[in-house]
Amino acid sequence: MVLAETVRKKFKKLFNEEPLLVRSPGRVNLIGEHTDYNMGFVLPAAIDKAIYFAISPRSDGQCKLFAIDMNDYFEYQVASIEHQEKNWPNYLMGVVDQLNKAGKKITGFNCVFSGDIPLGAGLSSSAALEAGLAFSLNHIFNLGIDKLSLVKLAQKAENEFVGVNCGIMDQYINIFGAQQTVLKIDCRSLECEYHPFINDDLRIVLCNTMVTHSLASSEYNTRRSQCESGVKIMQKYNPEIKSLRDISLDLLHSHRANIDEVIFRRCKFVVEENERVTKSCEDLEKSDFDSFGQRMYESHRGLRDEYEVSCKELDFLAEEALYSDKVIGARMMGGGFGGCTINLVYKSMVKKFQRFIEEAYKKKYGRKPLVYVCKIEAGTHIIS
Ligand code: GLA
Repeated sequence: MVLAETVRKKFKKLFNEEPLLVRSPGRVNLIGEHTDYNMGFVLPAAIDKAIYFAISPRSDGQCKLFAIDMNDYFEYQVASIEHQEKNWPNYLMGVVDQLNKAGKKITGFNCVFSGDIPLGAGLSSSAALEAGLAFSLNHIFNLGIDKLSLVKLAQKAENEFVGVNCGIMDQYINIFGAQQTVLKIDCRSLECEYHPFINDDLRIVLCNTMVTHSLASSEYNTRRSQCESGVKIMQKYNPEIKSLRDISLDLLHSHRANIDEVIFRRCKFVVEENERVTKSCEDLEKSDFDSFGQRMYESHRGLRDEYEVSCKELDFLAEEALYSDKVIGARMMGGGFGGCTINLVYKSMVKKFQRFIEEAYKKKYGRKPLVYVCKIEAGTHIIS
């Protein structure tokens, strides 16, 4: 809670009052990649890396923000919201913009924040900013917005104001996450199942490639439209089909001749990935972590060969992990083209694995990957 104390102190110094303190976590996704915007299943968890907000209401319409980690100050009026050249305020302004559009009255606020979610690593620091602020404003202004509406509002802030066409997974897990639990989110009904993820012999270890290839956002949008093309073709034969969620592998195969080869591979990956999420949850119910780990490898292979969103650095880390006897599952995580791999590692082997993967990566790419050992924590909540 060092960071919580840091933001509280800075807040008191700047604004001379006691703030509300809110913790808003980053996330991992165990399995179920590129399925959220295809109305499928995902299996994320909130983690012990977070953004901490210190916040209080104002009555003069001003929003005063201080980002400790950037040592940067920004202020604006609730009534005049404009996209900024400087990036970080946009995540926060986007939320106020959505509240304005929803007719929810806020009258300004003071806010100081700081976090330990590594930026650009694919751990959803942006969703933590958006959903964390939406949650905080809902509380200090007593807006009465339910949790799912907060999730949707935060996602819209990212889609419409920040301009990133992400799915709903990151904001959802930020708000609904729970300790020692992964969530199987149904991205069509927006309902979720809570599955305990408890195995004291295992740890979730992330290896950060330290690269973000510039392709990431354009290819993300391309994948979305390729999946939509697949759905359109299938709809010609069955108008009931609304998304790849409505398509079985058999049905997809029966239309192979009608579908372009690349589109076919994209759709096949998504259909199979949805199945893997469901089967992984059955593995968890049986505490069968070995099968769970196998499915993570299968997911990686699909992301690499069929969905083609991996990159050589991610493949290297996942493959090295595969050959190591310290790891039971590994795959790239998130949108792809950089960021982290997620690995399930025997607790007793974590140090050895870290040394092994750092050396291997350094030998190949001349720099060490950053390695994070994560705990599953609760979603966004008040800490004071
Ligand atoms: C990014 C997006 C998510 C999801 C993943 C891929 O993290 O923000 O909505 O689509 O990529 O699974």
